[in-house]
Amino acid sequence: MQEPELREPRLHVGLIMDGNGRWATTRGLPRVVGHEAGVGTVRRVARAAPGQGIGTLTLYAFSSDNWRRPAAEVAGLMGLLRLYLAREVEVLRRDGVRLTVIGRRDRLPDGLAEAIAAAEAATRAGTRLHLRIALDYSARDAILAAARAAAPDATREDFARLVTGDGAPEVDLVIRTSGEQRLSDFLLWESAYAELHFTPCAWPDFGEAELAAAMTAFRSRQRRFGGLPAAA
Ligand code: IPE
Ligand code: IPE
Ligand code: MG
Repeated sequence: MQEPELREPRLHVGLIMDGNGRWATTRGLPRVVGHEAGVGTVRRVARAAPGQGIGTLTLYAFSSDNWRRPAAEVAGLMGLLRLYLAREVEVLRRDGVRLTVIGRRDRLPDGLAEAIAAAEAATRAGTRLHLRIALDYSARDAILAAARAAAPDATREDFARLVTGDGAPEVDLVIRTSGEQRLSDFLLWESAYAELHFTPCAWPDFGEAELAAAMTAFRSRQRRFGGLPAAA
């Protein structure tokens, strides 16, 4: 695939994939059908991301607070993730995508942590896109763990490395689908200066066009990082 010439450093986009349940419910379908449809969106968005100037894409798949959902829905989500790994890893490897998973691994169903480690190992060499999946993830827990591990004289950079775990850069843009306008414990440290984009589009209906629209909106923003805009 021919990639457009990049005129800017590759961006880190965080995606809060929301609205699967409502998408299904409004169609009279069980919520898990919405999650199944959402897996297709993950595929489409991961494919489209490098062409949009995205170098790192962090997808919020399951928050630590999502354990509060009914056991059957949780089992459905975990099953879908297992299936995604089984089916997609070879494609990701071929496409030059490095996959890593952030969040806790000690509470996952049997065998899933091993499947994740295998997927990470198989895709380690990918440089075209770093695809991160946030699973049993809580930004507050990540910050708390970093605080516990950090030396008293740790610099901001040292601390950032501890928080992100895998050296991912700061987040440039957070996109949330399905109309909610909140962060729900996602990448709180890394998003200190992230631009925010909220779209009413439900995650199963999100795709290349919606991603492109979000990126166009992002490029129209003036980022200042506390300073003043460059003189015209
Ligand atoms: C996003 O969709 C997927 C997860 C949070 C796991 P939801 O399941 O939150 O869908 P809504 O918000 O109930 O519609
Ligand atoms: C946030 O969505 C978590 C994920 C997208 C995985 P939720 O749907 O769980 O968030 P709240 O409960 O509406 O804030
Ligand atoms: Mg939701």
